[in-house]
Amino acid sequence: MKSVLITGITGQDGSYLAELLLEQGYEIYGMIRRLSTPNLSRIEHILEKIELIEGDLTDQSSINNALKKSQPNEVYNLAAQSFVATSWNQPVLTGDVTGLGTVRILEGVRHVCPDARFYQASSSEMFGKVNETPQNENTMFYPRSPYGFAKLYAHWACINYRESYGMHSSNGILFNHESPRRGIEFVTRKITDAVARIYHGAAKELRLGNLEAKRDWGYAGDYVKAMWLMLQQKEPDDYVVATGRTHSVGEFAELAFREAGLDWKKYVKTDAKFIRPAEVNLLLGDASKARRVLGWEPEVTFEELVKMMVREDLKRYEK
Ligand code: NAP
Ligand code: GDD
Repeated sequence: MKSVLITGITGQDGSYLAELLLEQGYEIYGMIRRLSTPNLSRIEHILEKIELIEGDLTDQSSINNALKKSQPNEVYNLAAQSFVATSWNQPVLTGDVTGLGTVRILEGVRHVCPDARFYQASSSEMFGKVNETPQNENTMFYPRSPYGFAKLYAHWACINYRESYGMHSSNGILFNHESPRRGIEFVTRKITDAVARIYHGAAKELRLGNLEAKRDWGYAGDYVKAMWLMLQQKEPDDYVVATGRTHSVGEFAELAFREAGLDWKKYVKTDAKFIRPAEVNLLLGDASKARRVLGWEPEVTFEELVKMMVREDLKRYEK
């Protein structure tokens, strides 16, 4: 039986990836950090089928211990300080976890299990102030946030460990992907959660920042399949994963409110508090390499994604 270590297993993607790999028959180990209240809600339904190991991306010995204990054939590094807005408030922590943390785990793999295949959660945020549209694997990077430049450091670390030590390490340059399990502070979930609260009379308005920003939004359940496919290839490589369609924050809000029979213009207010020091205005990915080499295709459309998220939040508030 193949064994796998997932960092960030308590996060959105970690939970979907764990479900996928359980279906594939993997023995699953997840690295989790100590919190005052455990954050296991996304993996509660599979807790009996996986093993959790305490560890933190800022702590080398705990990473090494997790690798020794799991003896993985595959390692998926999904853990990060992943919220772009927070990265301006905590730039050093973001660099430590999201950037250096990746080097720590690469070092661990190099020493403990050098034959393990490694996946790095790279990000379209690295394209930042985009140099061309759509963005592909050859597009120049121009990060616009401490999160963006921490991910860029990690991205290049992954490539350098491949080239220096012959490690099977791949970067998935994933564009935004969402789901009903998305963290509540990210804009899509903030919107669908607010739609449900407004619908049920628990809120009167929704305050947002830049409504013009455009993102290439896909479904997290589709995107974790691409991660797994990358590690099944003979050679490690880097791949853009995206839908090839882009929509503005305003469009997302309009559709989400409409799904609940509400007019978004009546409820959405803009608030300067949510405007970022520097913005990524437009992301649109060209995933033709992933399609060609991995045979990967997104299955859930933008409209289906919005509907799925609104319906789940409406159900949650009904309860
Ligand atoms: P997420 O829901 O925010 O999950 C992040 C995970 O990292 C959580 O499990 C969190 O643990 C863990 N973590 C944070 N700090 C840690 C530390 N110091 N040590 C160990 N674990 C730590 O993120 P996601 O949306 O699933 O994204 C997964 C990865 O893909 C992230 O690296 C993200 O930056 C990257 N990415 C995401 C997207 C996207 O659109 N979702 C796109 C491109 C790249 P707690 O539960 O304890 O907080
Ligand atoms: N979060 C948030 N809250 N964003 C808002 C708001 C608001 O109230 N109002 C407007 N926005 C805009 C942001 O300025 C940004 O342009 C866009 O909505 C998306 O913001 P987020 O949902 O926070 O995601 P992100 O694009 O910054 O980052 C996500 O995608 C990256 C991949 O491109 C995260 O998942 C990153 O971890 C990931 O790497």
